[in-house]
Amino acid sequence: VGEEDAQYLVSLIRTVPGFPKKDVMFRDFIPVLADQRGLSIMMKALELALPVSVDSFDYVAGLEARGFLIGVPLAAQLGKGFLAVRKAGKLPPETLNQSYSLEYGEATVEIEKDAVKPGDRVLVVDDLMATGGTAKASADLISKAGGEVVGFSFVMELIGLSGRSDFEDSPISSLVTMP
Ligand code: PRP
Ligand code: ADE
Repeated sequence: VGEEDAQYLVSLIRTVPGFPKKDVMFRDFIPVLADQRGLSIMMKALELALPVSVDSFDYVAGLEARGFLIGVPLAAQLGKGFLAVRKAGKLPPETLNQSYSLEYGEATVEIEKDAVKPGDRVLVVDDLMATGGTAKASADLISKAGGEVVGFSFVMELIGLSGRSDFEDSPISSLVTMP
């Protein structure tokens, strides 16, 4: 997308200092979804910025909850299936799970035991990478199930928390970097 569109996208991201904890700059992309032009720019930009070629994965995996909001439309746009990586306690047994820390707490992600078949190639998407804990746990979970995580796509990447250092040789793309 062009520079003007990129700036327009950034202008829609809302920053809330001190939420949900003191010292956190909360970056809220929900207003992008409400804006017809912003939503269209974001979805086009995610496709143009894919960190790997579109034929190198079979599924897009999105992380509950905000990752669902871009994962499903991106999967549909690319002609892929969508895999839901859920927060703990929402799925009936049997599940695989992985605990992790994120910028403002701790959590556990889960998938259905048979959601991923050995050899499935998966692109992981989320709205934002902060510490990278959530994305890393989701990738570990997909790997545990026998899947292959080929890369990661984010709308926003918070620099300063060095989230990328956990993903040494994985292809990563983010549309916007922010402090
Ligand atoms: C947010 C965001 C990412 C994660 C990033 O989700 O959507 O998934 O934090 O943080 P990290 O890089 O430090 O792990 P959150 O857990 O707040 O849940 P939500 O998507 O349900 O709002
Ligand atoms: N998830 C983790 N850190 C975040 C932040 N600063 N803003 C929005 N979502 C987040």
